[in-house]
Amino acid sequence: MVGSLINAALAWMHIVSAIVWMGSIVFFTMVLAPVMRNLSPQARAELSIKMTPKFANFVRLFAILTIVFGLSLVLSLTKGDLAALAPTTIWGIGISGGMTLTIIAIVLGFGISIPTSQKIVRLTQEMQSNPQSNAMAQIPRLQKRMAMMSITILALQFCIVALMVIAARV
Ligand code: HEM
Repeated sequence: MVGSLINAALAWMHIVSAIVWMGSIVFFTMVLAPVMRNLSPQARAELSIKMTPKFANFVRLFAILTIVFGLSLVLSLTKGDLAALAPTTIWGIGISGGMTLTIIAIVLGFGISIPTSQKIVRLTQEMQSNPQSNAMAQIPRLQKRMAMMSITILALQFCIVALMVIAARV
């Protein structure tokens, strides 16, 4: 009974964190990025400078919480027997596959997307303080990279959820 309640609480925290992480990427990719492309350069610069640090911290926090609660759930469900993660059962394939794709999504997000968005902010600030600088020329290429990364991470997240649901229900 207590064990089941702990599993339920960990599953709730894991799923809610995953919803927030994935929801923020969906919102950025499908709504915010297209809207930003149609803003005036001044409005886009102001939004990007004010939003990027907050958004990056928010996404990082919920990605980490999803992983921490996910790993805790693995330990709790298996009672520490990590052999259950071996790809010899549907559960093992689903959870190990989901973990592998999560690592790829984290490397792309923490290693490419967030540093790229921070570079866009730096170049935007440089342009504001020195309108003659050639920082502007680099921004479209970085924005294209951001868009590609967001779509890739989103696709990975859809696959991860499919693997998790298969693991839990098949
Ligand atoms: C290190 C990464 C992760 C680990 C270790 C992990 C682990 C788990 C475990 C053990 C379960 C419970 C399976 C069961 O009830 O038998 C689960 C369920 C779930 N996970 Fe993950 N997970 C990870 C990443 C993610 C990510 C990145 C997402 C979404 C973006 C996600 C979404 C879900 C969902 C939606 C469920 C509920 C499935 C259902 O009950 O049908 N997980 N996860």
